[in-house]
This record gives sequence, C-alpha cells and structure tokens, in this order.
Amino acid sequence: MLEDINPAPRLLMGPGPINADPRVLRAMSAQLLGQFDPQFRDYMKQVSELYRGVFQTRNRWTLLIDGTARAAIEAALASLIEPGDRVLVPIFGRFGHLKVEIARRYGAEVIPIEVEWGTVFSPETLEKAIKKEKPELVAISHGDTSTTMAQPLEHLGRLCRAHEALLYVDATATLGGMDLPTDAWQLDAVSAGLQKCLGGPSGSAPLTLNERAEKRIVRRRHTEAGLRARGQEEGDGPVIRTNYFDLAMIMDYWSDKALNHHTEATTMLYAARECARILLQEGLQAAFKRHAVASKALREGLQAMGLELFGDPKHRMANVTGVHIPQGVDGDKVRRALLEDFNIEIGTSFGPLHGRIWRIGTMGYNARSDAVLHTLGALEAALAQQKHKLPRGAAVDAALAVYRNA
Ligand SMILES: Cc1ncc(COP(=O)(O)O)c(C=O)c1O
Repeated sequence: MLEDINPAPRLLMGPGPINADPRVLRAMSAQLLGQFDPQFRDYMKQVSELYRGVFQTRNRWTLLIDGTARAAIEAALASLIEPGDRVLVPIFGRFGHLKVEIARRYGAEVIPIEVEWGTVFSPETLEKAIKKEKPELVAISHGDTSTTMAQPLEHLGRLCRAHEALLYVDATATLGGMDLPTDAWQLDAVSAGLQKCLGGPSGSAPLTLNERAEKRIVRRRHTEAGLRARGQEEGDGPVIRTNYFDLAMIMDYWSDKALNHHTEATTMLYAARECARILLQEGLQAAFKRHAVASKALREGLQAMGLELFGDPKHRMANVTGVHIPQGVDGDKVRRALLEDFNIEIGTSFGPLHGRIWRIGTMGYNARSDAVLHTLGALEAALAQQKHKLPRGAAVDAALAVYRNA
C-alpha cells in the first residue's frame, strides 16, 4: 500500500502556483453539498458578489469556470468568437500565443501582432492595429508570467468601444495583485485563476462579463434537448462549438433558472469563495501595495547581490520578477539546490528566454517579507556554492531596508 500523501514543505516562489493560504485549505476541507441545495446556491450567489468586488465591477455575470485559468480563457474565446470573426491578439509572451491558438481552434481569423519578449505595446501601436484591422474582438493578457511584463490597459477599453470591438483580458496572473478596475477601464470580459495572487489552488477560474459580452453570447444560446423547457428562449446565432465551455449554458446554470449543466466543483467553489473573502478583508489597495513592496524588496535584494533584472523596468508585473542567470552559472543546478537544500521553488522560463532568466514570484499568500528574505538568503547561498562571487549578506539587508521604509 502507498503511504499517505505527505508533500515536502516547499515554499513556492515561482510564477505560480504558489502556496495556498491555510484558510483556503481549511475551507476546502468542508463537507460537500448537492449542487441544487439552497445553501449551495446561496454560496454561488455569494461567490458572484465577492468576485464583483475582486474584479471591481457591477457585472451581473460574474461566476466561476471549473478548470484551471485556461478553462476561462477558452470559455470566453469560444463563446465570444463566431467562426470567421477577426480577432486581434497582441502577443508579448507565451500566453498571447495561447490565445492565438485557442481563437484559431474556434474558427477566428486571427491577427497576431507581437513585440519582443521583455517589452509591451504602446497605446499608439494598439490603436493603429485596431484602426487598420477592425477586429470583432481584441484578446490580450494583463500580465504575462512568461516575460514578467504587465501591459497597460487603461485606454484600451475605450479604444475598442470606439471601434466596435469587444475586449477580453486574461488577468490570470495579476488579479488581486495589480489594479484592474473592470468597469472603469471598460473591459468586456476578464478572467483569472486562483493559483497566483488570489492565494488558492489551481482548478477554478473566475470570470466576469458585461452586457456587451452577454449580448454576443445570448444570441448563441442553444439549450441541450433534454433540458429545454417550455418558454426557454433560444438564440438565432451560430451554436457555440463547445458544450463544456458554452457560456450561454453556464450562465443559465448560475442564474436563478439553475438549468443543469456540469456538476459544480463544490470544493473549488469553497476555495474560490475563501480566496475572495481573504482578499476583500485585506482590502484591494492594501493587497496591491503588499505585492508591490514584496517585489521591490526582492528586486533590491537581487540587485544588491549583483544580479541584473530582466525586461522593461517601467512595465514589470508587481508580482513576478525576471532575473538574468549570471554568466558561468548553471541555472538548473541553482534551482535544484534551492529545492533540495532549502525547499524553495523558483521558476525557469520558456521559449526565447529558456536558460536565460529565472522567474521569482512574490504573490498571494507568499507576498510576505519572510518568504522574500528566505528566498534571497537561499539564492545567495546556492550561487556561492557554484563559486559565483557576490557580496555576502547584502541581499537580505537590502530587502530588509525596503520593508523598514515601507
Ligand atoms: C497570463 C496567463 N494566462 C494563462 C495561464 C494559464 O493558466 P493555467 O495553467 O491555470 O491554465 C497562465 C499561467 O501561468 C498565465 O500566466
């Protein structure tokens, strides 16, 4: 017989997942309820209301997609894209490519535009592309963990409206860690995951949709034959090409109609509820500040060690830092030493950045001074083990100074 699950007490300081807040784990140990139990339907309503706070929106349709963050990306794109639609995807890292790939699968005519990894788009470039390409939908990441860059989005919603495009934002990596006021920025659809700044496990993906997005989706409502009731309004638009991620069906399931679709992932809903409760209890502004200070402390520490940060300093995410692997250092060996000797995980990178940078997350439950200080101390020791010359003690001192002044 295998022994009980007993994972090593890792400190997860990569680009996500990070350690779940213990309060979230406790919520997840609660007993299950049936999906149509009035108490569970109340929990669903509470979740919608809590995430309206997290997304800073009044959108009626604020719900969870069962699955990891890409489940909500797929639900949004599959339900918003009609075959033949023109979809503009600005790519500044791996997750732009993901949106291209998903949009193509659902029959979009995708127009990808790309900047060098480590940079973001200027508002002028985006405006020019929208004017020229006249897309039905623009799909973009807020923060891309692959490059650690954050795209400014405050003007994009207005621009999309002026040109009659819908705007979908993938905020998987930033929701709860960086400001993203959905309504004020006129974002039509936004989604995320729990395993980054929200401090939960992966497996539930919060999503919000405004009335513009709703209109596009509802005209494609096609209820399963076995569920169709008298008076159920059907859309006259083309059927959404996926059942599991059909947002028209998922909206009917979350609404008071409670029309059966999937079986809601009860335990993940408990987790999502607790993540939002913890964040809103702290306050959004306080959480954004906590992330910004943790990143600043980490970055000052890395630089005090003599390491060079990656990417455009004006557009770094507040919760993941890219740092160049110094010349002559074997990046994978350092990561292995951190894991084996210190129980600390940091991230490698992919695509053009593979072998060039490490990615270190300071987010959610782990955007804490002790987590930052332990990581810096351990990294310094792991680098010294590789005979890399650095000023011993400087990193932790620099990070402590940031916390003392914060
Ligand atoms: C911007 C962005 N989008 C999507 C994803 C994919 O999330 P998941 O692995 O939960 O499906 C990630 C994960 O790192 C991400 O950073």
